[in-house]
Amino acid sequence: MAKNTFTLTDNRNGNSYEYNVIDGTRGPSVVDISTFYKDSGMFTYDPGYTSTASCDSKITFIDGENSELRYRGYDIGDLAGKKSFLDVCYLLMRGELPGKEASENFDLEIRHRSFLNEGLIRIFDALPDGAHPMATMGAATMALAAFYKDHLNLEDDKQFKIMRRRIVAKMPTIAAMAYRNSIGTPLIYPDVNRYFTENFLYMLRAYPGGTMKRLPDGTNEEIKQIEVDALDAIFTLHADHEQNASTTTVRNVGSTEAHPYVAISSGIAALWGSAHGGANEKVMDQLKMIGDIKNVPSFIAKAKDRNDPFRLMGFGHRVYKNRDPRAECLKGLQDQLKEALNLDSKLLDIAAAVEEAALNDDYFKDRGLYPNIDFYSGVILTALKIPVEMFTPIFVIGRTPGWIAQWSELKQDPKSKIARPRQLYTGN
Ligand code: ACO
Repeated sequence: MAKNTFTLTDNRNGNSYEYNVIDGTRGPSVVDISTFYKDSGMFTYDPGYTSTASCDSKITFIDGENSELRYRGYDIGDLAGKKSFLDVCYLLMRGELPGKEASENFDLEIRHRSFLNEGLIRIFDALPDGAHPMATMGAATMALAAFYKDHLNLEDDKQFKIMRRRIVAKMPTIAAMAYRNSIGTPLIYPDVNRYFTENFLYMLRAYPGGTMKRLPDGTNEEIKQIEVDALDAIFTLHADHEQNASTTTVRNVGSTEAHPYVAISSGIAALWGSAHGGANEKVMDQLKMIGDIKNVPSFIAKAKDRNDPFRLMGFGHRVYKNRDPRAECLKGLQDQLKEALNLDSKLLDIAAAVEEAALNDDYFKDRGLYPNIDFYSGVILTALKIPVEMFTPIFVIGRTPGWIAQWSELKQDPKSKIARPRQLYTGN
């Protein structure tokens, strides 16, 4: 069969350059321009990489026009709330869903790997009250590299596997301890009798010694199964999203042969920004700032004003120019939880009014700006009694298996090279 090619012609001198077109299993084909500079002496120019595929990958597929998201071929709607988050972690890292025995063994191993080295825990003492948990998480994850400097022979499948599982297991502990440290309460150690997501809520909520809040009727508050299930689904919805800004950061750092946990800490740094994972915190701030349904039109007008840098947080996405399927799943979850978890109806009403106004406005319609995952997660997380500064850390816990799966894929790809783009120089 003839190869598909793509020809570029330089109209200044008539030179033509031919490049192979490579088809994936789904999604747009790519033009392999890796020899373009050698051939033509020119670079391609694509700020923000809007037209650039930086790698090939078998992990996650997104069709932004048709609101489709798949992990290893499975539709997100068949995973979130239907498979446990740990099974989804296994799927992302191993390429297939675990059977019953593998799922139980994986769960058990993750429980036992959730503890932090005592030396690492002392790092929290060095950081002040009020430190944002994302800053502390970045530091603690970077420091993990100091504790696990061995066992990095990636030719050895067992070591490779342990290294991936360890970071998934420890991230909720790092997140919960970062939060407790920021508010000056004693740190709570993991409880091996609890499933991953329940354990995280326990480490956030428990009193020293592991007791839960005492209620007036003399019993102790329990973590509800519905809360665990809701947070588990939220983790799954965040678990991977192909070559987004933080994953690209993890891959770039990984490409320099840096330690994998250092690469993950750089992903945490990238995720913190309000254009990326930090948007969920800003959505809540914005809904509170709007304060009342009657103020919605003036905020929409502000978001549309080209002379005003204000943006509607939780709206728009680089890839989804139609509905974000994760947001659709969360909207469904929000409706289910409304009664059961006593969701804040005033904020819900404001959010619904913002959504309706934006979806019916030509500015948003013309630009394909729909609510993204961050628009809905805040109200649900608030109902789960998650403090607002923990919204982005929750995203980190969910995204960790995706980052480490992408890092592993990079390491196993014989074509991978150090990430080193070029520039168009415009200085003196
Ligand atoms: N509010 C108002 N206008 C917007 C918004 C918004 N939230 N998002 C994009 N636009 C407008 C831009 O001003 C621009 O308008 P123009 O064509 O008149 O210049 C147009 O839509 C395209 O915007 P870009 O910034 O070029 O789109 P890009 O794909 O680079 O950005 C991004 C995507 C960063 C997510 C952007 O939509 C945004 O800032 N959204 C708000 C922050 C947010 O919710 N981030 C979370 C993303 S999801 C995630 O990371 C999990």
